[in-house]
Amino acid sequence: MNNSLKTPKKSLPFNWYYDEKTYQSEITKIFNKEWIYICHVDSIKPMHYRTLKIDNKSIVLIKNNEKKISVFFNTCMHRGSQIFQEEEGKMHSPVIICPYHQWSYKSSNGELLNTTSINYEKFSKKEYGLKNVNYHIWNGLIFINLGKNKNFSKKSVFQYYDDTFEKLNLNQFVTGHIWKKKVQCNWKIYWENYSECLHCPNIHPELSDLVPLYQRRLVDIKDHPEWNILKDKYSNPKFQGGLKDGSQTWSFDGNAQGHLLESVKEELESKGQIYISTWPSMFLGVYGDHVRVVRLIPTGPEEVELTAEWLFQKNTLNDPNYQKSNVIDFGILVMNQDADIAEINQKGLYNLGSEQGVLMPEEYIIYEFQKYIKKRLI
Ligand code: FES
Ligand SMILES: [Fe+2]
Repeated sequence: MNNSLKTPKKSLPFNWYYDEKTYQSEITKIFNKEWIYICHVDSIKPMHYRTLKIDNKSIVLIKNNEKKISVFFNTCMHRGSQIFQEEEGKMHSPVIICPYHQWSYKSSNGELLNTTSINYEKFSKKEYGLKNVNYHIWNGLIFINLGKNKNFSKKSVFQYYDDTFEKLNLNQFVTGHIWKKKVQCNWKIYWENYSECLHCPNIHPELSDLVPLYQRRLVDIKDHPEWNILKDKYSNPKFQGGLKDGSQTWSFDGNAQGHLLESVKEELESKGQIYISTWPSMFLGVYGDHVRVVRLIPTGPEEVELTAEWLFQKNTLNDPNYQKSNVIDFGILVMNQDADIAEINQKGLYNLGSEQGVLMPEEYIIYEFQKYIKKRLI
């Protein structure tokens, strides 16, 4: 068995990548319904908040002094003012105060503490607490669901999952760096680019040197129809998978500086990297000495915001000799290369309206992705 598509498949119509109506239905039918990734538990410090905007909706996530998380719609229940205006900030007390008429709420559960009005006898504070947003913390990763879906199941949330991941306890990891970038392309363009490696040798020369399989424009050795014959014939990582000889992690020099993730060391030696992903908002890679999580949130039909978090074991970051820029800047290089080509992809879409391109054998993940989109929109 191999992964490749056996016949060419039509790609999505070009105008689905800029049409305002398509975008609005993606917001309503996908982003407002699916589990959306927010951040790793360590990316938010105690007594701090984070807001997240998905189209015209805004939510706020608060971590209290006991490291407990609460998530609310960012709306005051008096007359609907937005409460938090910034993307993140410090809480000066465990009380949330609306900037308009200063109603106050308890940050741990949203309970209305006080209004600023003369008391009504019949007014019941209980009815006017902040509205909770469903959230779920899975392996240190915080997800929300704006819809009614209260069940988080690994099977339905992650389209791509690797059991090796069970051996990692991301709860114990710490955030070493956060990087944000707005890319001028439809959110699906960035996902589709992430889902294939046909572009790897020319767009990512440094990465393709590190991961020899990528020089063959493949994501997985099983993407080639004769992968098992080739695997028996050649011992080179080009056909076996894994990093080039002597390399341990995704970094400029391939060196993990003595900080390998021990629990998944063997798997990483043979595979080079391990991926899991959840549409529409997150992909995650496990590398020799770190984990990189990338969140994608559209900010319009032709713009997507990327937020990348680098997670490390505590002792790695505590080691004064560990140069984290070796992995961080390498990840940024690769993501910028992808961003640049994704913007070029976007620019070409407008000429041909509803015409469709084609998916080639190696683009089987894009085929699944487009099936997922169509199933929800049509
Ligand atoms: S709208 Fe928030 S206190 Fe009036
Ligand atoms: Fe890429």
